[in-house]
Amino acid sequence: MADTLTLRRPDDWHVHLRDGALLQAVAPATARQFARAIVMPNLSPPITTVAAARAYRERIHAAAGAGFTPLMTAYLTDDTDPAELERGQAEGVFTACKLYPANATTNAAAGVTDLAKLERVFETLQRIGLPLLIHGEVTDAAVDVFDREEVFIERHLAPLLQRHQGLKVVLEHITTAEAADFVRAGGPRVAATITPHHLHINRNAMFRGGLRPDFYCLPVAKRERHRRALVAAATSGDPTFFLGTDSAPHPRSAKESACGCAGIYNAPFALESYAAVFEQEGALQRLEAFASEHGPRFYGLPLNEGTITLERCDQLVPQRLGEGDLSLVPFHAGELLSWRLA
Ligand code: NCD
Ligand code: ZN
Repeated sequence: MADTLTLRRPDDWHVHLRDGALLQAVAPATARQFARAIVMPNLSPPITTVAAARAYRERIHAAAGAGFTPLMTAYLTDDTDPAELERGQAEGVFTACKLYPANATTNAAAGVTDLAKLERVFETLQRIGLPLLIHGEVTDAAVDVFDREEVFIERHLAPLLQRHQGLKVVLEHITTAEAADFVRAGGPRVAATITPHHLHINRNAMFRGGLRPDFYCLPVAKRERHRRALVAAATSGDPTFFLGTDSAPHPRSAKESACGCAGIYNAPFALESYAAVFEQEGALQRLEAFASEHGPRFYGLPLNEGTITLERCDQLVPQRLGEGDLSLVPFHAGELLSWRLA
């Protein structure tokens, strides 16, 4: 068994870097592992303008240091002006835009209430080739929380792709076999990101021995058969699927509360976490394509030049990172991971 694994430097195609002190605390973890990252715009208030994205990009640069490129996204609302998206792309600020159904997740209150309101936006995105990134869950309270992704695909995503046959779409953080099948069948303009946590845990993790907020995220983890389908998709070599951690830090006080926030903080050990899954599947030779090639090819960006090396070496993931208001519980807390970023 090889003791080192050298990969072209990877990118994270879905991350939450937050702002202020939390940004300072978490940005270095992402920058240590990844050359670039698609940065989610769900701040409060959300990043809806070119000016706000430019200013946020500067704050990320300051927190992450040189050698890391944040790729900015625009948060879509019912009132998004397509001209702002076009200008943001032309000025090299927006790499994509993000659709949150209103109230689907953290800071999604200003999200889209009805896709019909965005027809002009979708026409513009298609014309200028700016990818649409989607949080694919319905918010209909009558739909069971574990079915919301599948129902979103049927009710909203399939018709949207039908209406706009040239729109480039990433279904973010997929959690179901149905989503993997749908994206696989969608041709080269449809792709999906897959998180480390959805490859490792099923929904039982949230209830093992008691209520475990550290395993709660949105879309929520599903049954084991879905986890198996995601592992098969991620390790298959299919360019439709690529790395997106959805690292979503919330301070412990916000997770361990009567109404705990959704989100798993996986950035510090993300590559090690993915490597564990690929190794279990006997697919380590396909990790590089998933982590470093499929994403840039979909986005039409160059592959990174540098490399990173993972070495086989047990490391114990700490129970907590940071202090006080910034105390965070990393994914895999208290577990041994058998690869380590050199
Ligand atoms: C994300 C967050 O906290 O911003 N939470 C999560 O559970 N993934 C939002 C999101 O991506 O849904
Ligand atoms: Zn996210």
